[in-house]
Amino acid sequence: ALAQGNGSSSLGFREIPHQMGPRDAVPEGYEVQTVIRWGDAVLPDAPAFDPLNQTAEAQAAQFGYNNDYVDFFPLPRGSRNAEHGLLAVNHEYADTQLMFPGMGDDETARLRSSREQAAIEMAAHGLSVVEIRRENGRWAPVRGGRLNRRITAFTPMRVSGPAAGHDRMKTSADPTGTRVLGTLNNCAGGNTPWGTVLTAEENFNQYFGGAAARTGGQAAMYKRYGIVEKASYSWPQHEDRFNLDKEPNEPNRFGWIVEFDPYDPDSVPVKRTALGRVKHEGCTHAISADGRVAFYSGDDERFDYVYKFVTARAWNPDDPAANRDLLDEGTLYVARFNEDGTMNWLPLVHGQGPLTAANGFNSQADVLIETRRAADLLKATPMDRPEDVQPNPVNGRVYAMLTNNTRRKPEQVDRINPRAANAHGHVIEMIPPGAGTDKVDHAATEGRWEIFLVAGRPGVDAGAQYHQNTSAEGWLSCPDNCTFDAKGRVWISTDGAPGTSKVADGLYAADTEGEGRALTRLFYQAPTGAEVCGPCLTPDDQTMFLAIQHPGDDKGSSFENPSTRWPDFRDGMPPRPSIIAITRRGGGVIGS
Ligand code: FEO
Ligand code: CA
Ligand code: CA
Ligand code: CA
Repeated sequence: ALAQGNGSSSLGFREIPHQMGPRDAVPEGYEVQTVIRWGDAVLPDAPAFDPLNQTAEAQAAQFGYNNDYVDFFPLPRGSRNAEHGLLAVNHEYADTQLMFPGMGDDETARLRSSREQAAIEMAAHGLSVVEIRRENGRWAPVRGGRLNRRITAFTPMRVSGPAAGHDRMKTSADPTGTRVLGTLNNCAGGNTPWGTVLTAEENFNQYFGGAAARTGGQAAMYKRYGIVEKASYSWPQHEDRFNLDKEPNEPNRFGWIVEFDPYDPDSVPVKRTALGRVKHEGCTHAISADGRVAFYSGDDERFDYVYKFVTARAWNPDDPAANRDLLDEGTLYVARFNEDGTMNWLPLVHGQGPLTAANGFNSQADVLIETRRAADLLKATPMDRPEDVQPNPVNGRVYAMLTNNTRRKPEQVDRINPRAANAHGHVIEMIPPGAGTDKVDHAATEGRWEIFLVAGRPGVDAGAQYHQNTSAEGWLSCPDNCTFDAKGRVWISTDGAPGTSKVADGLYAADTEGEGRALTRLFYQAPTGAEVCGPCLTPDDQTMFLAIQHPGDDKGSSFENPSTRWPDFRDGMPPRPSIIAITRRGGGVIGS
């Protein structure tokens, strides 16, 4: 059931018009600062960015490409300092046609990367950790920040949890099945109550290729994850581990949630297999009334599922060591939404229900390595591409951004996915027992759900539903990431609106409760070609960080002739994915 307000919004900014162009825009009284761009120095030995003479070595010391997840970890650790901290950022993928000269103007450029270009692409993946500070109102990286770090496709990582060391995790380079190089296609993410980063491996399938995708012993599993004979990148030609015919198990080592300590640049990132292997969009947490911690995650594929993992033990705020391996023990669940407005969380536990040897699951490792097939057998509810799934700390509800699913047929429509050929997506709320009180049971296996909004143009796109006063500028398309401010208002960023609605991607805000519920308003408009990711507020709600990803990624746009040169607008300089900080002129709370 839709439960929308009919009064006015609590938000105080004047929304901007829907528009498209080479530059971005914010409301009157706000300003945009560029904090860090692709190619800016992260490590002390990074050379100045020279896109015509880029090297893998330089890229591995510089800010990577296609920033997505953004998080802010205050300094000193444990404080709520809103003017000095560590920015943790994912670098999801490469736009080869915009990164290198002479590659043409479309995404097939990725297939033509030379060995050196592929090495640069690998170094442009992963994450950056960058110390930043706000002085005199201006955000800037701290030169030579001692905690700065680059993580790439080559950074050594450890595997833990039930799938660690399993035969299907072993490769010729790693006979232990516990040591992996790198993390790939890190989309959104999250953090833990104990102050670590969770980074989500999403479309890991794209990097692998080989005839084994069709003929090998794991062909059915590959197919379920979209691993095909022809990779989307040139990498299998240059690196044996991306060639399925040489290393059939390497893709089993991707698709996980990876945890690391941003405050320790030497910490070894850990792939936490207990949280399942899917195309994780992100991973966000809520502390349940009994101290156990729930981690929510969407599997971003048409007709895939919403998951949560609940730790076996309560977390311990007083003893960091006690939380170190909390993510290795617990229960992974997948969501089933019932037509009567209730929902069930179905446990993915070996030996329970259909998850037995009769169906090819000989251990919990098998269940986790093939999380998708296990969830299929449990009859989870197929969703319209789950992106961010994020708890609202104020009202206790958990919001899922369902970005779109044009392939849903009329006979596949249900109440939770209410629209066939869903080009614009929708936003749902999961309501755990106790939501709205100070004892929310995020560990519960039952709950209720509601629809928050159905995206698209009200009165134009069939089924679109918002607050009745949503303006001609306030509607949105393709919700992807979100965050909440201290008042519990939701901030939703979009990815794909230009294709569906001929408006730029942007950031929208709405009340979640009261008179202004689901009255979305446009706050930020991205430069052409870009999606908006990350939304992340400082602890004082006075800075909104956004990741502006793939600016200039338009049809016919190339390194030489990009559709925008945002954010530098300098001749010869291609567009640069960047983190921006939006603040109020003269200071103040964002959106108040
Ligand atoms: Fe990388 Fe689901 O977006
Ligand atoms: Ca993205
Ligand atoms: Ca996303
Ligand atoms: Ca997306």
